[in-house]
Parts: sequence; structure tokens; C-alpha cells
Amino acid sequence: MPKLAVIAGDGIGPEVISEALKVLDIIEPIYRPGVELEMLPYGADHYLATGETISPAEMRRLGEEFDAILVGALGDPRVPGNEHARDILLGMRFQLDLYVNERPARLFDERLTPLKEKTTGDIDLVIFRENTEGLYAGIGGAFKRGLPDEITIAEEINTRRGVERIIRYAFHWARENGREHVTMADKANAIPAHMLWRRLFDEIGKEEFPDIHRETRYIDAMAMELVRNPEQFQVIVTGNLFGDILSDLASAIVGGLGLAPSANRHPGFVSMFEPVHGSAPPMAKKDIANPMAAILSMGMMLRTVGSPEAALMVERAIRAAIVEDRVTRDLGGDYGTREVGDWIAEWIRKA
Ligand code: NAD
Ligand code: IPM
Ligand code: MN
Repeated sequence: MPKLAVIAGDGIGPEVISEALKVLDIIEPIYRPGVELEMLPYGADHYLATGETISPAEMRRLGEEFDAILVGALGDPRVPGNEHARDILLGMRFQLDLYVNERPARLFDERLTPLKEKTTGDIDLVIFRENTEGLYAGIGGAFKRGLPDEITIAEEINTRRGVERIIRYAFHWARENGREHVTMADKANAIPAHMLWRRLFDEIGKEEFPDIHRETRYIDAMAMELVRNPEQFQVIVTGNLFGDILSDLASAIVGGLGLAPSANRHPGFVSMFEPVHGSAPPMAKKDIANPMAAILSMGMMLRTVGSPEAALMVERAIRAAIVEDRVTRDLGGDYGTREVGDWIAEWIRKA
């Protein structure tokens, strides 16, 4: 029985997670993935009430007792320093060493892309974002805070082990999933440390994946190309910050953040699934958030814990809802969050 921890989190997090669990509920008796749920309270409310973000013991338990974790979103205006989100969300990524952040961007329906006649409609790419180091490592600090000569420093960490494993994962994924082409994005022309990425990408590609075509881009040109001609990309591998930015951009060309799921992985260990979007505080408690990113993230979870048919059904249901305009306002519809979840659950039940 796969064990799933659920952290609904802040803002629209609880609303979209509630729809993902509604769909999981419908799936359970049909496909019998046998997922056993445990709801965890972590988020801004819990932090403000108790002073606890997440304890080291609980973080260990997530790694030891669970197969998967489903997260809504973390971020709340009442916690302007965002320390709870760093402890919980980045805490899971770093401490559970979930070094692969897999962020697919697939165009479900041509009407969803703002590129319109500029695209053939064949957008189907996956970003593999390094998830445990880079500029997110938290190395640095502030000095003379508030004074005229205040200094803040953030160091970017690129370890050979860290860069190698994400590059190898991206190549490997491409081969296993019938893709021929991997693109690596860096900024080696301005940041010499990024030569490590170029060197390792070439070495690993040449020695271990000669069957996969490889290409390197500078991140600025990559962002431009992603808008100009996104069909050319199949698999993109990049560092932590660039991957964060590119994945929001990639979501925008296929319908927006409301549709973008992600998986945080360490092969053979617990995986964490979450929408790419945040807690969107102004949208919270209005029943207007798009639950599809959360539902698709739950689908990625199902595939990972051994229920690929159920995962496929989730994707087909999302596509059907889009084609039939059973969508929230971000996609041009007038359905509420709960109505979209109901419709998708009912479609799966009938199918
Ligand atoms: P956001 O992703 O919350 O929202 C950005 C924009 O996308 C907003 O205009 C919002 O209206 C729209 N949007 C997002 N999700 C949507 C959905 N499901 N349906 C329809 N529209 C949606 O990003 P932000 O405003 O920069 O950040 C808000 C908070 O969320 C911050 O505290 C931030 O740190 C946090 N955040 C958390 C995560 C996470 O938990 N994984 C990710 C990103 C941002
Ligand atoms: C994401 C988010 C997080 C990140 C924030 C909330 C720390 O933007 O998951 O994309 O930067 O990784
Ligand atoms: Mn982001």
C-alpha cells in the first residue's frame, strides 16, 4: 500500500488539494491504487499558531514512512519572510535530497496557447530543474543591515555530483521516454562556474548517451526560443533558479500556471508532487483557483506509485474538461474550483 502524506498548505493550496483528493477518491475503487493518506497540518496557520514550521523528526518521518507527498502551495502574506515555506518546501527538497524537479509543459488544446498561429500546437516538453543546490543553497548573508553600505551575498553552489546526477537523469529520462533531444541551459558566457555544466553535459552525453542529440543554450536565448519556437524542445535540463523561471514561462505557453504539475524526485526514495504555482493569496477562498495543476500532480503521483492506467485516466479527464470548456476563469471558463473537480471526478467515474 503506497503511503501518501498530504500538506495542503496556504492560500489556494487547500482548495486545489481538496479537488485532487476528490479525484483520487473516485479513482480508488476503480483502479485500486491502494493509496493510504495522512493529512499533515504544516503551513502558515500552523506556524503562526505554534511557532513550528516542521520539525526535524517529522522531516525524517516523511523520508522514512512515506512513498509520496502531495503539496498544495506554501506562502502567506502574514509571513513576509517566507521562512515557513523555506523550511517546509525547500526543506523537503534539500533534506530529502529530491534532486530532480520534473516540470512537464504539454499543450492539451491549441486554444490554450497565447502563441496561436505562431505554433504548430505540438508543444510537449519537460524541464528537469536541479533541485538541491545552485543559488538556492542559502549560502551567504547580510552585513550592515539597514545602513547605507549594506551588503547582501548569495553564493551559487554547483557540485560535480549535483550537476552530474541531474544531467544523467535528464538524458536517461529522454531515452526511456522515446525523446531524441536534450537541451541544457546555463549562463557560462558570463558565469565561468557554469562551464562545469557544459563540460559534464558533453562528457556524460558523449560517453553514456550517444544516441541522444544534445544541444546547449544560454539561458537568455533559451527563454526567447521557448516563446519563439517551443516545439523544438523535448527535454530541458538546467540549474535551480533558471529552472524555476523557465517552468513558469513554459506553463504560460500551454495555458498557464493553473495547468502546470511537477514532481520532486530522488529515484528509489520518497517523491513529492505539487503544482508549479504558488498560493495565489488574492484568489484564496473564492472558489476560482484552477485545480488542474494539483490534479495532474496527483496523477504524476499515481504513475510513480504504480498506477499508470489511473494516471492516464487523470490526463484524459483533464483534456476532456478543457475540450468541453468545463474550466475556471484563467482558462476562459466560468466554472468554480469545486465544479471543475466534480466534473473531472464524474468523467472518470463514467469512463
Ligand atoms: P502564484 O503562482 O501564487 O501566482 C502567480 C499568478 O498565477 C497569479 O496571477 C495567480 O492569479 C495565477 N495563478 C496561480 N495559480 C493559479 C491557479 N491554480 N489557478 C488560476 N490562476 C493561478 O505566484 P506569486 O503570486 O508569485 O506567489 C504567491 C505566494 O506563493 C508567494 O508567497 C510565493 O512565495 C508562493 N509560492 C509558492 C510555491 C509553492 O509552494 N510551490 C510556488 C510559487 C510561489
Ligand atoms: C516553485 C516556487 C518555489 C521555488 C518558491 C516558493 C521557494 O517558486 O516551486 O517554483 O522557487 O522553488
Ligand atoms: Mn516557481
